[in-house]
Amino acid sequence: MVAELPLPDLVRGLPLLGSAHAIGRDPIGFLLDQYRVHGPIFRVRAGHVRLTVLAGPEANEFVHDVGRHLLSNRQVWAPTLAEFGGPNNFVGLDGEPHAELRRLYGPRFSKRSAEAKLDDLVEIAVDSFRSHDPGDEIPFVRFSQRLVSRQVGELLVGQQPTVDEHEAILRYTNAVVMNLSLRRLPRALLRFAARGFRRDREVAHRFSSRLVSSHLSQPARPDQPENFIDTTVRASRTHPHLIGPGEVGASGLLPFFAGVDTVGQTVVFALYELLRHHNAMERATADADAAFAEGGLTPKSLREAGALTGAVMETLRMYPAAFAMPRTAAEPFAFAGRRVEQGTEVLVFTTVCHFLPEYFPDPLRFDIDRFAAADGGFHDPNVFAPFGRGPHLCLGAGMAGVQMTAILATILHFCSLELAEPERTFRPVLRPSLSLGGQFRLRFTGWRRDPPRRQT
Ligand code: HEM
Repeated sequence: MVAELPLPDLVRGLPLLGSAHAIGRDPIGFLLDQYRVHGPIFRVRAGHVRLTVLAGPEANEFVHDVGRHLLSNRQVWAPTLAEFGGPNNFVGLDGEPHAELRRLYGPRFSKRSAEAKLDDLVEIAVDSFRSHDPGDEIPFVRFSQRLVSRQVGELLVGQQPTVDEHEAILRYTNAVVMNLSLRRLPRALLRFAARGFRRDREVAHRFSSRLVSSHLSQPARPDQPENFIDTTVRASRTHPHLIGPGEVGASGLLPFFAGVDTVGQTVVFALYELLRHHNAMERATADADAAFAEGGLTPKSLREAGALTGAVMETLRMYPAAFAMPRTAAEPFAFAGRRVEQGTEVLVFTTVCHFLPEYFPDPLRFDIDRFAAADGGFHDPNVFAPFGRGPHLCLGAGMAGVQMTAILATILHFCSLELAEPERTFRPVLRPSLSLGGQFRLRFTGWRRDPPRRQT
């Protein structure tokens, strides 16, 4: 195949653009600028890492089509998954073994499994405000992450982590992903890292072991729906070649590492925009009130909440928490007239079209009506790709959609919030998902109506 590609050598053919600083300050803006100047393939440098970026609708189509066998997840995720203790976790597999485990796990992460627990999702969202008094300024990224971690615990592993466990899991998984998979520092650096890291690691692993022990001492009854841990333990018997004791032991970490930061940050971005757009907020709140008209949320009442759905989709467009996908070239290949060598570290900038006026006119304007427009870029999966593209497309997309709409509906229906610093513009930073950062606060001005009584 190498000989068949009469193309310029990529490494010598393209300049190295950017720096860790430029990318860290405004990652999407930086990559977007390079795409505009250099087209669908270019190279960037972020610290000691050199990345070949594939971007645009052609990159998304490539990843979904021929590129699915040419781009590997294994090398990117192997160090992180090894650190977690389950190197064969499906996120780091390629090809048929990956597809087989996705089929097995799909139902656990589905829209339907989240819809079955809507009452729990609402209760957790309401309960998160119970400890607050009117006038409290809430650091909202942290608040939202905590709310979502309780929901993810309820939906996927049958237990909500304590505050301490949640924070340790978040810090630990973020540190590992940032260092081992995204910046690729040597493993040894983590081993000898600060005492705080070692403590977080211990708490996170103890939490995961506890989930597995609870399952083993009290397996799910056949008439009960399985959760993620149940499925992993069962699959370790039916698929021992793919799921060993390490994968079982680390299984309590995956749902949190995949779902908490992504959903948590997106909810914050949605509220940030809604609170800056009075008319959109009024319509979304009217939808939330209508969705609760019968007392609680139902799949149907959420489906009918068009303004809320429009707000969620527009937030995913403007603030794609996971805006690009890291990969390694499994073989040499050609893309957009360039040759990419085997082993090259690739970044697929899946969400570049979200910011291009040819697909979304006036792309920096938050417009909750875009999604409903039949001719919008939202309906082309190579253009709107907040959940990625190709074989590793987000398995939790359906669940995440229900969570985000339910959280927003609950907050808008029960609570009154305002921006703590209405004059200040916040720019997204990488943490490692896109985030408004720890300084972003919302003021809880009180309950719009009495919250439902706490469930015991
Ligand atoms: C707004 C919320 C979310 C966003 C934007 C998001 C985005 C993504 C993206 C872009 C990928 C692909 C990464 C890649 O190919 O490198 C992905 C994968 C994944 N996501 Fe999500 N995600 C969200 C919520 C969730 C939730 C709630 C869960 C479950 C708790 C979840 C579970 C997963 C899993 C398991 C994968 C790996 C799939 C595979 O490797 O086959 N995600 N997500």
